[in-house]
Amino acid sequence: MQTSLLLIFRPAVHEDQDFIYDLVKASLPDVVGIPVPDWSRNDFLQSWERGTKTIITFEGTRAGYLRWERDPDALHLADLQIVPAFRRQGLGTKALMYFERQAAAEGFAKVSLVVHDANHAAGPLYAKLAYCCEARDSRRSLMTKTLA
Ligand SMILES: CC(C)(COP(=O)(O)OP(=O)(O)OC[C@H]1O[C@@H](n2cnc3c(N)ncnc32)[C@H](O)[C@@H]1OP(=O)(O)O)[C@@H](O)C(=O)NCCC(=O)NCCS
Repeated sequence: MQTSLLLIFRPAVHEDQDFIYDLVKASLPDVVGIPVPDWSRNDFLQSWERGTKTIITFEGTRAGYLRWERDPDALHLADLQIVPAFRRQGLGTKALMYFERQAAAEGFAKVSLVVHDANHAAGPLYAKLAYCCEARDSRRSLMTKTLA
């Protein structure tokens, strides 16, 4: 577990499932840029089984969520969510920096993630933190970053 004065990154536990499901479901239209057909609790529980899940708390309140998976050549950020009331306060940036430190600590030289072109918040965030487009299709990009 990593702490600064107000910000804590801790493993997600079963009791966080409702919080995460509601957060991810509410942001889906912004993430993919189109109305999303029903994303069920079952879909969520399948993703719950994969990867490492981390909750971000700020002053004791749950403020966000991260999940990453181990690919052969990179640690892949599968989800990053900041609660709307906590956005534009630097938490997304701090969460990415935390993720990159975890990747380095696990021996990865590279991190990756996928962002949809329509995601007008995440695109600038990743560009600011020096993520580069490695591949793309008609609506999303695979972004990677080589760790120093
Ligand atoms: C994308 C997201 C994680 C950003 O979190 P955040 O805590 O608001 O990000 P930060 O405060 O660290 O923002 C850092 C920079 O990113 C860019 N940025 C963040 N939100 C933005 C927005 N809505 N519009 C344009 N740029 C934005 C800005 O350059 C910002 O710097 P600034 O505030 O000094 O201008 C958050 O908006 C979110 O959870 N969105 C819904 C889920 C999502 O899209 N996840 C990413 C999936 S790929």
